[in-house]
Amino acid sequence: MTGPGDGALERTLAWQRQHAAKRLPLAAYWAPGRVNLIGDHIDYLGGRVLPMTLDRGTAVLVLPGRNAALRVQALDQQAAASFPQAGRDRQGDWQDYVNGLLRFGGPPPRPRPLELLVSGDLAGGGLSSSASFTLALALALQDAGWLRPASGNDLARLAQRVEVEAVGTACGLMDQLAIVHGSARGAVAIDCGTLATAEVAIAWQDRELWAVHSGSSRRLADGGYNLRRQQLDRACAARGLPTDAIPALDPAGLSAENGDEVWDRRLRHVISEQQRVLAGEQALLQADWQAFGKLMTASHRSLRDDFEVSTPELDRLVAAALSTPGCDGARLTGAGFGGWAIVLLQRTARQRVLTAIAAALNREPPALQAFQIRPGAALRRLQGVG
Ligand code: GLA
Repeated sequence: MTGPGDGALERTLAWQRQHAAKRLPLAAYWAPGRVNLIGDHIDYLGGRVLPMTLDRGTAVLVLPGRNAALRVQALDQQAAASFPQAGRDRQGDWQDYVNGLLRFGGPPPRPRPLELLVSGDLAGGGLSSSASFTLALALALQDAGWLRPASGNDLARLAQRVEVEAVGTACGLMDQLAIVHGSARGAVAIDCGTLATAEVAIAWQDRELWAVHSGSSRRLADGGYNLRRQQLDRACAARGLPTDAIPALDPAGLSAENGDEVWDRRLRHVISEQQRVLAGEQALLQADWQAFGKLMTASHRSLRDDFEVSTPELDRLVAAALSTPGCDGARLTGAGFGGWAIVLLQRTARQRVLTAIAAALNREPPALQAFQIRPGAALRRLQGVG
């Protein structure tokens, strides 16, 4: 039901059988994670991006509650808490997300007592675990009357507001929109200015896309992400430009004034990344994998040199992949600062490429965290449970 290799729903069901066998599940919900194929750090400027939802994500199993409160069991953290928690300040943990949902998505019409069991398969940074967690909970809470009814895009906006105001990361809307509009047939092109979305079906042919972990994790609220946004705001203000005009600027115009100054490099990344997304969408539609791979690699270099959100581990991983015959392209995915990278390769080269990456990260191949990326469907209530 939740896709190959995914144990998240099974873990919630196992907990229910072991600890709450007499309380039968009322419903179950699923929110996928995502990788971003290309187009990073341009969504919050109204750019066009190309994420793909995964067959991995977050499962929420809904049980009848035992008292008038909402209880959430975060099984992967081996932690539980009751809500609402009046007056609890931000603490940098998963409870901030639940409090944010209740604060911005309420007041509840007539909530019934509930216990939610939550588990996911997206740890490590870059697969959008937090948007997946927030949206799976949001849909479950909405159906149970704990949140006001909202359309898909409004639910995405609610989850973004939670991230910005309750958690403290000034993120864009790419992850939330991808999770709401994703497709099991391929990627979804999102115009973050108009919020228009379009499915981009993928013909894999002899290609595979792999997610490989760099070995270092990160938290976005730590500061680097918000700092990049402030730098772009200042760069725009200094030039008298509205921030959402940047992705559409002519790169030639920028290079005329370009020194090696930080703001110019940030702008150069945004403008060039937007061009790569447009070219990448065409390459995907034509299944031109060599062209797509080159764009991925150019995107990584721009994120590394101009936007400075890569890490030595991510760079080593990407370099090792690219120096192995049969790899078309590789890049960090999502915000950067550590976490997962994506690697495009020919099926026959899989072993060779993964072995080279493991060696570059000083890991025995079995210890390498890696999985083949398969597209998965969007946020939904799971049939057959409850
Ligand atoms: C994080 C944010 C997104 C986006 C990416 C970078 O995933 O949540 O809004 O900015 O980083 O592309």
